Amino acid sequence: MSSDDDLRAVATDVHACKACKLYRSRKNVVPGEGPAASDLMFIGEGPGFYENEQGRPFVGAAGKYLEELLASIGLRREQVFIGNVVKCRPPGNRDPLPEEIQACSVFLERQIQAIQPKAIVTLGRFSMARFFPNVRISDIHGQARMLNSRMVVAMYHPAAALHQPSLRREIEADFANLPGLIQRAAPAPPIDSETAEPPQQLSLF
Ligand code: URA
Ligand code: SF4
Repeated sequence: MSSDDDLRAVATDVHACKACKLYRSRKNVVPGEGPAASDLMFIGEGPGFYENEQGRPFVGAAGKYLEELLASIGLRREQVFIGNVVKCRPPGNRDPLPEEIQACSVFLERQIQAIQPKAIVTLGRFSMARFFPNVRISDIHGQARMLNSRMVVAMYHPAAALHQPSLRREIEADFANLPGLIQRAAPAPPIDSETAEPPQQLSLF
């Protein structure tokens, strides 16, 4: 199966999923969207009101701001994968519970395996904790950390940053740094060889 097929299979399985009680109150599942060949994956917390209505991630106010942040580094949302830790809306936008995150983690894992992104950007505490438990977002946001040979960068949640000027400055600075972080994650060029290929540039930035 191609990675496109794998992603579609995840979405199909999410549509049928009843593995946690969030299935009871959902209107639409929100599996996430973006090309299987994405270099970057953005992982939020869970669907909110508008996402639950439309079955698409980050389509409300936080989504609009995320689109602005992407545009600030020359990206459109269609060029990256955007998903969430839980695929069904927690009622009243409450925090997702540990057992719900656990039940849903198989889908996020399959999405990561299908996409094999150059970097994962976590948005908010719950998404960060999926990769880095027991750290504080204020300590590690914006830093490139390697986890199983993959770069993971924790960022504040755009919904939080939107309304708090101090966080807004931080997330905008973290986005501005992202292209540089990803460039440095590219394989080192071969040394001391006239026949070597020129250093590989990442196509994204
Ligand atoms: N907030 C999230 O964490 N995810 C969404 O999809 C929308 C808002
Ligand atoms: Fe299944 Fe995830 Fe929805 Fe829970 S949140 S019902 S685990 S898809």
